[in-house]
Amino acid sequence: MKGILLAGGSGSRLYPLTKTVSKQLLPVYDKPMIYYPLSTLMLFGIREILIISTPHDTPNIEKLFGNGSSLGLKISYAVQPNPKGIAEAFSIGADFVGDENVCLILGDNIFYMGNQIHAFREEVEKNGNSRATIFAYHVSDPERFGVVEFDENRMAVSIEEKPAHPKSNYASVGLYFYPSDVVAKAAGLRPSTRGELEITDLNNMYLREGRMSVVPMRRGNVWLDAGTPESLMDSSQFVQITEKRQGLKIACIEEIAYRRGFIDDAAMLRLIDELKDSDYKKYLKKVYEEYHELY
Ligand code: DAU
Repeated sequence: MKGILLAGGSGSRLYPLTKTVSKQLLPVYDKPMIYYPLSTLMLFGIREILIISTPHDTPNIEKLFGNGSSLGLKISYAVQPNPKGIAEAFSIGADFVGDENVCLILGDNIFYMGNQIHAFREEVEKNGNSRATIFAYHVSDPERFGVVEFDENRMAVSIEEKPAHPKSNYASVGLYFYPSDVVAKAAGLRPSTRGELEITDLNNMYLREGRMSVVPMRRGNVWLDAGTPESLMDSSQFVQITEKRQGLKIACIEEIAYRRGFIDDAAMLRLIDELKDSDYKKYLKKVYEEYHELY
């Protein structure tokens, strides 16, 4: 399974924060926003990742992660010249996807999943190369998102992009798993009335073919998108409160790489060594030492 992290767009809703800085490099409490979706891919066991961003921002993101090898990842980069829609990720990433299944995650989506992530992974694995898998999350403001409509048997029948009159409170989150035929399907999309290649149109294709699982992301899982000033602030506060209480970080990519066995002891020590003195460095040292104490 390959992963695409889409981190472009104009960030217009965050202007003037985004006048010179990419939205996905803005801080969400103690780390850049893009760490969060990257950590989600890692937690799903995805290690071969294409990051797509704007011509201006791609070099800066590359400075953050390089080729990913220090984290046990293989990261490559591609540019989206203009924000022509989320589904354009699959024409830009066509060669990268090849004939493998692929996960797409949006660069401003923040997940904090409980144990249910194991069930999600199983569902995605079960669907394999025959069905797509997306997730639906109950929100108070569905009109801001793609909204899933369910029939009387609680089966998803369609998704509407930012409807004025939402048919449910279930938003489609920015985490999508597809079989490799997604590239061919995306090539058949036409721009919507707002001029974008819509991820929702792509998802409706799979739904109509009966090849889509819409999995509810239940209470106890947190999903935030950090694309507006308010949701950016909410996201920072959520991370701050949770990290402070537990003394454990959310989306610490070095910790995930180490705990998941993507890197060994020597590579973890190198990562720690290279960091400037900071609370982040202290935290990683503690992760390394405790890991040894406990296991
Ligand atoms: O966050 C989940 C929602 O994301 C879904 O419920 C919607 O169905 C989906 O359309 C999308 O809605 P948004 O209004 O949040 O999309 P936005 O235009 O903000 O783009 C989401 C991310 O993708 C953002 O980080 C920028 C990036 N992006 C977007 C477009 C349109 C690109 O990199 N390139 C693009 O062309």
